[in-house]
Amino acid sequence: MLWLKALHLIAMVCWFAGLFYLPRLYVYHTMSDDSASDERFKIMERKLFFGIMTPSMIATFVFGIWLLIDGAWQIYSHAIWLHVKLALLLILLIYHYFCWQRE
Ligand code: HEM
Repeated sequence: MLWLKALHLIAMVCWFAGLFYLPRLYVYHTMSDDSASDERFKIMERKLFFGIMTPSMIATFVFGIWLLIDGAWQIYSHAIWLHVKLALLLILLIYHYFCWQRE
């Protein structure tokens, strides 16, 4: 299922682009001092978070879980790398949540 893995990775890259860019937008937002910029940054941040990051995160999860179900679950269930990866994923979710809190 290489096409499925490709979709998983494309969604993950889109998600990460937002995870890196949103904090940068917050910095530019904080540095701005006029109300027009304030409004523009709010729109950009909202569209990035709700329009790109969150749908990409959901797609990463859907394709990742699909890969698990479709692949050899017997093998995956003993794969240490997968357990470590899913644990690290928790940290990523917390970071995603904090990005939303600032929004
Ligand atoms: C619910 C979340 C996720 C699940 C269940 C999941 C599951 C999987 C599975 C089953 C594979 C296929 C591994 C194989 O070819 O045997 C895979 C591949 C991959 N995943 Fe995820 N994944 C998730 C989230 C993520 C996230 C957040 C990232 C990035 C930080 C990521 C990065 C990758 C990469 C780079 C591969 C390709 C590995 C390779 O083929 O060498 N995944 N994932």
